[in-house]
Amino acid sequence: MQIIIYDNAQQVAHNAALWVKELINKKPDPVLGLATGSTPISLYKQLVEQHKTNQISFKNVTTFNLDEYHHIAPENPQSYRSFMAENLFNHVDIDLKNTYLPTCATGQNPREQGLAYEDKIKKQGGVDLQILGIGANGHIGFNEPTSSLSSRTRIKTLTQQTITDNSRLFRPDEEQPTMAMTMGIATIMDARYVLLMATGANKANAVKDMITGGVSVMCPASALQMHENAIVLLDKAAASELSDHSYYQWANNENSKLIEDYGYFHNY
Ligand code: PGA
Repeated sequence: MQIIIYDNAQQVAHNAALWVKELINKKPDPVLGLATGSTPISLYKQLVEQHKTNQISFKNVTTFNLDEYHHIAPENPQSYRSFMAENLFNHVDIDLKNTYLPTCATGQNPREQGLAYEDKIKKQGGVDLQILGIGANGHIGFNEPTSSLSSRTRIKTLTQQTITDNSRLFRPDEEQPTMAMTMGIATIMDARYVLLMATGANKANAVKDMITGGVSVMCPASALQMHENAIVLLDKAAASELSDHSYYQWANNENSKLIEDYGYFHNY
């Protein structure tokens, strides 16, 4: 894992956006894995800005989102499709035909829908760079604690903690879903690179478990310890439970020297 600690959330977003920009400008047919939630909103703002200033085009980009609520129509303002439209898709030149979310409409079989989503990702050549947040309980996507580390796209029941954490996003008169379709942990692990962003003190314990705990289904993000190319961007608050700040800093300085000498060596 490459762990990079920044002073604040804005710097996390800025640097995450540089990773996305590098992929989009380097690969003719990039496949980007997307996340929803509060954390990536500032990343999407940066990407929209980059697009407006002609630094990137999404014309040839294909996207796969991590998850989508069950039994929520795409046009529902609470759907993750609406979230992506509002925060990114409506503001860039992406072809909506190339944007996928793991949906399961009423009457559809979640198992078949999950398999079909896996198939689509494979046909597209796999995800090059998967953006991730982390839940306060260590989830990635909606892979809640006890999710199999070998899981694939499927339907999951959300934990009470996740439902409570996300209740801030629903008005009292809106029904909050308790189930979601989500990429599995094995699906996420297949991405060539994963870029996890975590900001705020409420993520500090989950971040510590992910980086320094044992690999365990009780912290699904800890599976990333087994990923060849996992990059973790933290602000100081999210890193506050880690003890090795100076090592991470030093390793990143050394890495920067390598990049100066040899250029980026991301193998997309
Ligand atoms: P958040 O969610 O960005 O809204 O904190 C992250 C997650 O649950 O993955």
